[in-house]
Amino acid sequence: MNKLIALFTTFVFAFTLAACDVDDLDVGIVLPTNEEPRWVQDEGRFEEALEDADYSVDILFSDGDIGTERENVESLVNQGIDVLIITPQDGDAAAAAVEEAEAAGVTVISYDRLITGTDAVDYYVTFDSIAVGEAQGQYLVDNAPEDEGNPLYLYSGAEFDNNSFLFFEGAWNVLQPKIEDGTFDVVNSSEAEDLKDNGDLSREEMSNIMGQIDTEWDFDTARSLAEADLTNVDEEQKGDVSILAPNDGTARNIGDVFADDDDITSYNVTGQDAESPSIQYIIDEQQSMTVFKDVRTLVDDAIDMALSVLDGETPDTAGSFDNGVIDVPSAQSEIVTVTRENVHDVIFDSGYYDEEDFDNVEDLD
Ligand code: BGC
Repeated sequence: MNKLIALFTTFVFAFTLAACDVDDLDVGIVLPTNEEPRWVQDEGRFEEALEDADYSVDILFSDGDIGTERENVESLVNQGIDVLIITPQDGDAAAAAVEEAEAAGVTVISYDRLITGTDAVDYYVTFDSIAVGEAQGQYLVDNAPEDEGNPLYLYSGAEFDNNSFLFFEGAWNVLQPKIEDGTFDVVNSSEAEDLKDNGDLSREEMSNIMGQIDTEWDFDTARSLAEADLTNVDEEQKGDVSILAPNDGTARNIGDVFADDDDITSYNVTGQDAESPSIQYIIDEQQSMTVFKDVRTLVDDAIDMALSVLDGETPDTAGSFDNGVIDVPSAQSEIVTVTRENVHDVIFDSGYYDEEDFDNVEDLD
């Protein structure tokens, strides 16, 4: 059934030069889910960037399911792709699928999330994910309502995603000294409290903390965690609070839960992705910040790499990431903190989104 759906929903949007075999696809793109605006945004940016391309591309979504992801990869490999651009649903679990692709001679580009535990990844395009977490932590530090004892609620991304560790590591780099010195009081993770003197957590220690605060990148899970936290804490752990939310979707859902609690007087909540619903939340003061990761740059990097491969050249890379088995050559893009103060400049004036699509933009001044 999934295969059928994948076939019917397949959207081949750029067709080939006359010289190309129309049955043979050049590039396959696999994205994790179309339930999150983040990845729908990537699909749109790929389509925009490839509008005039003279090679054929197909984009498939994996519905957040590793079985569907495997089927998507197999279907693309069977259609003869030369390059696979893939954001794994689960970094470890995707290894088997890309090993199959590599065995068929396909060049594999890991897109935004690193595929781990295999040598079957040729390149990695990504943002500076540690900087994402640092920007989130810095916002909370800079905007802490009191000098000390500020209740801090921590939430992380899914443990199946390597990025979640990088985001958390970045946030911890900035927050930990302020937890240690008493500026913040972590209220929803006993593991984080126990480790508050440790500025350099091992992966296992991070995993122990994240095990208590893991949103699984899922809106309902994020909401349930926040509801449970607010039920479990004392009244003095409410009031004016700070919330580390790992991305925009979780920020909106966690923020809504805090907004509904009468004992919460104010909250600062972080995010990332500059998803359009979160830009609206920022304008309306329901979300404090987001980290803008310009997907246009990431898409361009991935396409440049794919084109080099199709032209028989070696793509340019600036660094590398250890995926547990090899150092994967990588290209990394910068990030920008967006708040109500600079949203107009960074998001509208840069042409990323059209301000006409948002309400209350006039209130920004
Ligand atoms: C991406 C984020 C995204 C999250 C959930 C991460 O790997 O880097 O941009 O919000 O996955 O999909």
